Amino acid sequence: MANELEKQNAAAAAMEFVEDGMTIGLGTGSTAKYFVQMLAEEIADGLVVRCIETSEQTRRLAESLGVPLIPSEQIERIHLTVDGADEVDEHGFLIKGGGAALLREKIIANASDHMVVIADPSKQVERLGKFPLPVEVTPFGYTITAKKVYDALCSSGIDRPRVELRAQPGGRLVMTDGGNYILDCHCQRIPDAESLAARLSNVPGVVEHGLFIGIARTVIIGNEAGATVFE
Ligand code: 5RP
Repeated sequence: MANELEKQNAAAAAMEFVEDGMTIGLGTGSTAKYFVQMLAEEIADGLVVRCIETSEQTRRLAESLGVPLIPSEQIERIHLTVDGADEVDEHGFLIKGGGAALLREKIIANASDHMVVIADPSKQVERLGKFPLPVEVTPFGYTITAKKVYDALCSSGIDRPRVELRAQPGGRLVMTDGGNYILDCHCQRIPDAESLAARLSNVPGVVEHGLFIGIARTVIIGNEAGATVFE
């Protein structure tokens, strides 16, 4: 179980990248939540920033804390995005989407001048793949898409993958903010994340996948005493 202090310290270290006048992408999840809360405190103390949320969950949090949000269609430039991750490797490649927000997270992170990942040490891995890779798919034809996703996993050297439609504990299917489904791809080990990312992007019906390749520029790993920043 991740230590909340580790997450808080990672978020606090990310605050060092915030400057007056910035437009900031707000990530989703329990680590990103600390960043939004810290940002709200600075805003209350006079910091002037505008933000864009990566999920309905984060929109509700930001609104409740008085963090100013701008609609995505009014965005011209995003200076900084701070978000969590489910796994991060030594290249700064990520698995994201544990909270089903990967589509908006990727749109915002990819459009940002600078993406900072904040995480506790349990997210650091030598090789991506222990955490099931989320893939967002359209409801139409999702069983067909799931088979093609399975084929893409096998073609990328993944041994006996398992593709599961994400459901809530009661059995109801998880629906993303965009009205899509999530396939959780159990890989155990992804030998070549870049080639898998390319293969998944080529499957019709795949809206987006949770591999973030070459998007994060800074990774901050919190610990109980502070945080380590990897550039
Ligand atoms: C949501 C995400 C989150 O950033 C990821 O799941 C990490 O969340 P947490 O900080 O709660 O561990 O990708 O889609």
